Amino acid sequence: MFETSAASEKPDYAFLVKQIRSILEGERNLSTNASQFSAFIYHSLTGLNWAGFYLCAAAKNPTAEFPHDLLVGPFQGKVACARIPFKRGVCGTAAAEKRTVLVADVHAFPGHIACDSASNSEIVIPVIVNGQVAGVFDIDSPHLNRFSAEDQQGLEALLAEFINATDFPTL
Ligand code: SME
Repeated sequence: MFETSAASEKPDYAFLVKQIRSILEGERNLSTNASQFSAFIYHSLTGLNWAGFYLCAAAKNPTAEFPHDLLVGPFQGKVACARIPFKRGVCGTAAAEKRTVLVADVHAFPGHIACDSASNSEIVIPVIVNGQVAGVFDIDSPHLNRFSAEDQQGLEALLAEFINATDFPTL
C-alpha cells in the first residue's frame, strides 16, 4: 500500500513532486493516472471540496477556434457539471486562454459555474500536451482566497509531472 503524508494547508511541494513521480511510475494510462492524481491532490491539501479533471472531447457546437468542449473526467468530490464549453466559467477561461486562472472569490468571477454551492475559491490549471490543450485540472475550496501564488507554482509543478508520466489520445 502507498502511504501518503498527512494533508496540509501549506504542503511541501518539492516532497509531493517526488511522491507523485513514484505513484505514477510504470503506468501511462490516462484514466488511471488522472484518477490517482486527483486522489493524491485531494488528500494532500487541506480545505478542498473538489479536485479533478475536465478533458477535451468533440464540442456540441464546435467552432474553428474551439472544436472541443471540456468533459468531466476523474475527480474527487461531489457530482459536478458534465460539460463545459471553452471560454465558459473558470475552467473554460483557463482552457481558452491556455493559462492558470486563480480565483480568490468565485462569486466575483463573471460566468463562474457553481457546481457545488460550498465552493468559494478555485484554481484551474490547463493541461497542455505538445502545445495543445488536452483539458484542465480544477481545484475548489470552501474557503475564500485558499490558493496562494506558492500553491499555484507547486500545483503547476505537480501537474507537469502528471503530464510527463501520461499518454494522451490524439485529439
Ligand atoms: N467552477 C467551475 C466549474 C467546475 S466545478 O467547480 C467542479 C467553473 O466555473 O468553470
